[in-house]
Amino acid sequence: MKEKIFIEGGKRLSGSIPISGAKNSCLALMPLSLLSDSALTLNNVPILSDVETMIVLLESLGCVVSYQKTEKILNLKMSAKPLFLADYEIVKKMRASILVLGPLLARFGQAIVALPGGCAIGARPVNLHLMALEALGASFSIENGYVKGNVAKSLKGCKITFPFESVGATANTIMAAVLAKGTSELVNVAREPEIIDLCKCLKSMGCKIEGEGERTIIIEGVDTLRETTHEVVMDRIELGTFIIAGAISDSDLEFTGGDIILLESFVDKLYEVGIEVCQSDSNLRVKRINRSSIKHTNVLTEPFPGFPTDLQAQMMALLSLADGVSSIEEQIFENRFMHVPELIRMGANIEIKGRKAVISGVDKLKGAPVKATDLRASVSLVLAGLAAEGQTEIDKIHHIDRGYEDIIKKLTGCGAQIRRY
Ligand code: EPZ
Repeated sequence: MKEKIFIEGGKRLSGSIPISGAKNSCLALMPLSLLSDSALTLNNVPILSDVETMIVLLESLGCVVSYQKTEKILNLKMSAKPLFLADYEIVKKMRASILVLGPLLARFGQAIVALPGGCAIGARPVNLHLMALEALGASFSIENGYVKGNVAKSLKGCKITFPFESVGATANTIMAAVLAKGTSELVNVAREPEIIDLCKCLKSMGCKIEGEGERTIIIEGVDTLRETTHEVVMDRIELGTFIIAGAISDSDLEFTGGDIILLESFVDKLYEVGIEVCQSDSNLRVKRINRSSIKHTNVLTEPFPGFPTDLQAQMMALLSLADGVSSIEEQIFENRFMHVPELIRMGANIEIKGRKAVISGVDKLKGAPVKATDLRASVSLVLAGLAAEGQTEIDKIHHIDRGYEDIIKKLTGCGAQIRRY
């Protein structure tokens, strides 16, 4: 795949952008196929490299997967020959591979999963995943970079309190607890819409779950799961990203398949800076309240329903052009400011003080050669490039294919001068 994106900035966009299914929901839904022999059909599956990686991983565990890309449908069904090794060569490409650990232990009582290791945005430990699964009855050893898990008899429901919200640990624990004997009470869980979507799919497979989206989830273990078809929830982070594309380029854009109910804190923040997002029927529109300016504000990233960390880099691109001084405090990850030096190359005025970035708005950004470092950092450079004067060239753009389906086509469809070489 071509590695560079070129953007001729300063163009106002117009038109409608379709929002795809959520990457972070799909990557948790796909491992549900390991929990039974029943078929799992997922609709509204986003066409992303991370989904392809998860397919390779599940096939290596004995799952039969058919991916009808045009229809965005995934059919998954565990074969009679399960395997239990999630190899490092696959896991190192995508940290979400750890989400096969819970289902493998719950269904087969054994799993050998490569530790995902860190990534550009942080160390990304999995201690909470292991803590919770141990509480349910699994035992682990860490050998040669792999976590080896075993369950002597079967997992047993219990009360588990998480010290802080972790999306992945919540998902892994739910996927294990649904087959545990008895009741599990999970306290201080992640409340993200992707967790709600996971529970919705599990309930359609016959699981007994209450409280998803709240601080405590109660799960009554069941013996088997039935066949189901589930529609992947829309990608609120993709929607938020394109809303900022409209705001930063002073455009009037529409979105189909999106719902701002999943982005309340984000939309409130946009209103503070003078960006209006209004929902009418199935359509969503974004436009500047006062065309000439974007106001400054302060942002704190938090677990849902707070401001999403996955929209932090995109918001920073927008605030680079605000009147006055803004700040963004990144509370979730320890190193999620890799986009800052690249935005500075484009003329942004940003100073990092620990976990806080102080952004002094500038009148304009200038196109420049920049490099992508991680998924959301790379898309923040695309957004900055849309607003910048002149040409922006973004290198190492494979990061963007992980989380944004057809981003070039979606933006050129609205008049953006963006191409990939
Ligand atoms: C999920 O990652 C998402 N990924 C991330 O999206 C998202 O940024 C993150 O949740 C927070 O919303 C997927 O869903 C595939 P966490 P996850 O466990 O589950 C620490 C994107 O751009 N922690 O909620 O890994 C962790 O280091 C990606 O789409 C532990 O210390 O996030 C982080 O500081 C990036 N021990 C914090 O908790 C653990 O065992 C929150 O992480 C687990 C997490």
